[in-house]
Amino acid sequence: MLLPHLLAAASFLIPAVAAGDKTTPLVPRTWNGKKYACKCYYGDACWPSASEWKTLNNTVSGRLVPFIPPEAACHNFFNGTLFTIPTYNAAQCADVTTNYPVEQWINDQDAALMWRSWTNSSCVPTTNPSTPCTPGYYGIYIIRATTKSHVKAGIDFARRHSLRLIIRNTGHDFMGRSTGWGALVINVHGFQSVEFTSSYRGPKKEPYTGSAVTIAAGVQGRALLRLAAAQTPPVTLLTGECPTVSVAGGFVQGGGHGPLTTIFGFAADNVLSFDVVTAAGTYLTANAHQNADLFYALRGGGPGTYAVVVSATFKTFPDVPSAGATLYINSTLTNSSTVFWEGVRIFHGFANELIDAGLYTLYSLGPQMLRVKPFVAYNQTATQLDAVLAPMRAKLEAAGVPFTMAPASGYGTFLGLYLDLFDDERAGAPLLTGGWMFGRRDIAERNDAIVEAMKVALSPRADLVDKGYMVGHIFGPGHGVSKAKGAEAAVNPRFREASDLLLYNLPLPADSSIAQEDDIQDLLSNTVDRAMMRAAPDGLAYINEANPYMEDWQTHFWGPKVYPKLKKLKREWDPEGLFYSISTPGTEEWHVIEYGERLCKKL
Ligand SMILES: Cc1cc2nc3c(=O)[nH]c(=O)nc-3n(C[C@H](O)[C@H](O)[C@H](O)COP(=O)(O)OP(=O)(O)OC[C@H]3O[C@@H](n4cnc5c(N)ncnc54)[C@H](O)[C@@H]3O)c2cc1C
Ligand SMILES: *[C@@H]1O[C@H](CO)[C@@H](O)[C@H](O)[C@H]1NC(C)=O
Ligand SMILES: *[C@@H]1O[C@H](CO)[C@@H](O)[C@H](O)[C@H]1NC(C)=O
Ligand SMILES: *[C@@H]1O[C@H](CO)[C@@H](O)[C@H](O)[C@H]1NC(C)=O
Ligand SMILES: *[C@@H]1O[C@H](CO)[C@@H](O)[C@H](O)[C@H]1NC(C)=O
Ligand SMILES: *[C@@H]1O[C@H](CO)[C@@H](O)[C@H](O)[C@H]1NC(C)=O
Ligand SMILES: *[C@@H]1O[C@H](CO)[C@@H](O)[C@H](O)[C@H]1NC(C)=O
Repeated sequence: MLLPHLLAAASFLIPAVAAGDKTTPLVPRTWNGKKYACKCYYGDACWPSASEWKTLNNTVSGRLVPFIPPEAACHNFFNGTLFTIPTYNAAQCADVTTNYPVEQWINDQDAALMWRSWTNSSCVPTTNPSTPCTPGYYGIYIIRATTKSHVKAGIDFARRHSLRLIIRNTGHDFMGRSTGWGALVINVHGFQSVEFTSSYRGPKKEPYTGSAVTIAAGVQGRALLRLAAAQTPPVTLLTGECPTVSVAGGFVQGGGHGPLTTIFGFAADNVLSFDVVTAAGTYLTANAHQNADLFYALRGGGPGTYAVVVSATFKTFPDVPSAGATLYINSTLTNSSTVFWEGVRIFHGFANELIDAGLYTLYSLGPQMLRVKPFVAYNQTATQLDAVLAPMRAKLEAAGVPFTMAPASGYGTFLGLYLDLFDDERAGAPLLTGGWMFGRRDIAERNDAIVEAMKVALSPRADLVDKGYMVGHIFGPGHGVSKAKGAEAAVNPRFREASDLLLYNLPLPADSSIAQEDDIQDLLSNTVDRAMMRAAPDGLAYINEANPYMEDWQTHFWGPKVYPKLKKLKREWDPEGLFYSISTPGTEEWHVIEYGERLCKKL
């Protein structure tokens, strides 16, 4: 996407770049008149031989498989990089077609992504089996890792051969960071162990001795919350609002916010320790007392950037009675757009007050449709929550805005609330996502301008009226976490003074061409992001939920205090750039060329 157009691709001779002790030199390449040194890909002389792949397969106990997309079952052939095979199977095709929008099904595949625009949509379910099925931007080989030695084997192999390496967990990434053209993929979703303790024993100097849980990399939010609530006494912890995001994967490495963030901060504020495999293939523990610099970087410094997380230990908290509520303003109640937006304006103007009352609020906003589901009040009663919402109710009534807001519900546990009020999301829609988090001051002083920017996100251009869709998360990562504590994680300090993280999606045409994708990307960067930034200059962006092509992403994601530290840590922990995730620290020198294919260093 947004790649300059191809002029020439030719090899030429230059001295080896990044020649570590046994590392294959990067491959020289010219594209668009510029010189690059690229990772080693199939077809290059440096690509590992069949016997080298066989040795790798033995090292990972036979768990190395060639990538074949499940969608291939709907096509006569899968024309892969390594081979072409007949793949049509009517029953399997029906199964894939049915499951295509199901989050958990996607999560359980070797490599599939939730957001297909990052795959080049080169093999999709179809009723016409003669249409082509090719790998698109997926990898070539997958290691279905179940032990840390499998991870180490994959890391060592990719490093020695300078392969593009991808760590794939659930495939949720909005920015396509869990896929890469021609890559070796280590799938860590198979890591599923969970172990609770009521009294954490860390390294000698560790002061925290409360309850905690150690989870493996692939464990997902809702499954974990269920296990936690089944402990005696029941506990809970920071997970995403999304039931299927993995907690110790991209989530915590980008920060990780969820329904309890206003009370307990980010997931990154609650980690006690990580077990990792480094780019050098070393097993390490990283916590406040061992490898503290790596520990810092892993807490919000960017997913898939510094090391592969095998497991992580998080603080847990009592699972206590909590209250939830919902609010609707939509075309069932009014078709006046003036009345509707007045309702949005009033609701949104309360963002700071909701946080000050300890709440978390999730809402979606579409054409003549505001759905606030839910307001979450951890450790509060329904009566308390109704009292918090009373001024909003009164203001909507006074303005003559029709709305539906039933009295709040009390739940015996936070888990009960979570299971009742948080839904699975649909996977697979072709879209591009951007996001901006508004500062407290922005809400207090510029709420009207923010609402105008929301209108831009909904209707960014004359041909796209009412085609946008937004999801907002009102939480305060600085409410329950002191300034000093908050500075320990590698997230943008502006988060602690922020109130609402708004995601905005723009739809892509089905089977969109590169030109169409560039067009929508341009709209996202130059129209919608700009409108948000202008309306909310105290805001910031969240590395896991934003437009990766934002100008000055270093400042928006981390800010001038944190970013330079992270860039330095990236150089120390991954000097050769084994791990690459778009728009993460230290990636300035890397570039994906040839329309989303080769990952190369700029020379
Ligand atoms: C529907 C939906 C809802 C969401 N809700 C929330 C939310 O409530 N709060 C929130 O904070 N975010 C949320 N997100 C964003 C989410 O945090 C990111 O998509 C995150 O990257 C997902 O991580 P993953 O590991 O599950 O996914 P993947 O796509 O598999 O991986 C994401 C990135 O992390 C890397 N990675 C994964 N596992 C490891 C590992 N073990 N070691 C090293 N690198 C690894 C990958 O290489 C990739 O770069 C949501 C996303 C979606 C699609
Ligand atoms: C790896 O070994 C297993 C078990 O022998 C085999 O089924 C699989 O096809 C091999 N993978 C590759 C890529 O050859
Ligand atoms: C895929 O392979 C089949 C069988 O060799 C061939 O008929 C078909 O043209 C190929 N399709 C593409 C897109 O290369
Ligand atoms: C990506 O899709 C475009 C057409 O939409 C095609 O020209 C290109 O070859 C594809 N690339 C890959 C790697 O599939
Ligand atoms: C709004 O318009 C829709 C579609 O015409 C209609 O079904 C609905 O009843 C209208 N709502 C109100 C409040 O009039
Ligand atoms: C719940 O709130 C009460 C006060 O209302 C407080 O004493 C208690 O510590 C809180 N529990 C948790 C787990 O936050
Ligand atoms: C519209 O509001 C009603 C309540 O008035 C609610 O039941 C319905 O689910 C809402 N529709 C949408 C699409 O949110």
